[in-house]
Amino acid sequence: MVTSVLPRVESLASSGIQSIPKEYIRPQEELTSIGNVFEEEKKEEGPQVPTIDLTEIESEDKEVQERCRQELKKAAMEWGVMHLVNHGISEELMDRVRKVGQKFFELPVEEKEKYANDQSSGNVQGYGSKLANNASGQLEWEDYFFHLIFPEDKRDLSIWPKIPSEYTEVTSEYARQLRALASKILSALSICLGLEEGRLEKEVGGVEELLLQLKINYYPKCPQPELALGVEAHTDISALTFILHNMVPGLQLFYQGKWVTAKCVPNSIIMHIGDTIEILSNGKFKSILHRGLVNKEKVRISWAVFCEPPKDKIILKPLPETVSETEPPLFPPRTFAQHIEHKLFRKTQDNLSN
Ligand code: OGA
Ligand code: NI
Repeated sequence: MVTSVLPRVESLASSGIQSIPKEYIRPQEELTSIGNVFEEEKKEEGPQVPTIDLTEIESEDKEVQERCRQELKKAAMEWGVMHLVNHGISEELMDRVRKVGQKFFELPVEEKEKYANDQSSGNVQGYGSKLANNASGQLEWEDYFFHLIFPEDKRDLSIWPKIPSEYTEVTSEYARQLRALASKILSALSICLGLEEGRLEKEVGGVEELLLQLKINYYPKCPQPELALGVEAHTDISALTFILHNMVPGLQLFYQGKWVTAKCVPNSIIMHIGDTIEILSNGKFKSILHRGLVNKEKVRISWAVFCEPPKDKIILKPLPETVSETEPPLFPPRTFAQHIEHKLFRKTQDNLSN
């Protein structure tokens, strides 16, 4: 077997190259849509990612609570992505999460390599970079650290960063608080669909089986940012995704045929509806196409937590309550594992026809 050792993007970026290797250059048709992200972020015209204030999501005043839910519902139906504010997770904790992750990435590459994952043996947790998965050899301008953070009994603490020493404590606390936030959101979304409060939570695995996976995305400075992507266009397969970042813009959403750049909203958490909830809701809630731009001036780091159902235990399909004569099921039944397969297959087909 031929194994080629790909350099980490961080090493490539710090080597002083002025032009990026061809594997990182996007295909011609995509290049026309990639601009300078700082310019893009300033644009005020056109649709903007909604901001949802969760202050009243558990209000005692039922009318006030309902108004809050309706805002969430509208954003979930129209966009499938939003900035959450007043979500209940403290600024201090979010700052600590950012700090420990950043400190880990500040270690020399050789140190981080001690945590390298081994995708060929199915070991996806750890430090990694994307492997080319098609003939074009297309790569993304990022390295990452990926690991399961909840439920606690399913964690493998032996592969978690040991430096900085607070990493485990801080990340564990964030995981617990995000898990509680996920429950609140799932309750509200259930009610919005006319279901019992606990229904979506149960349908995605409940406290025992819903998995929270953290991916710290590290996007080094790129000498030719208009030719590359940090993360290529995709929808998240998760039920929900929660994202923190270091206030450097990069995320773009494909809304009404155009790429919209997400603004950096202080103390917010970006939340995506993923494919899983899109399927369960029979397409009423959207899983939006998105991607990440890179830039020349600033390293961007984001902390994406994917809340995922178990791979094989649950059959995902539109819930009967979301289906009617005029709203036939839009998605055939599949397990989460089959959904991943189906997407990979479609992607390979796309590449073959390119
Ligand atoms: C992802 C993703 C966007 C970002 O990791 O799935 O879409 O802002 N990341 O880093
Ligand atoms: Ni994503």
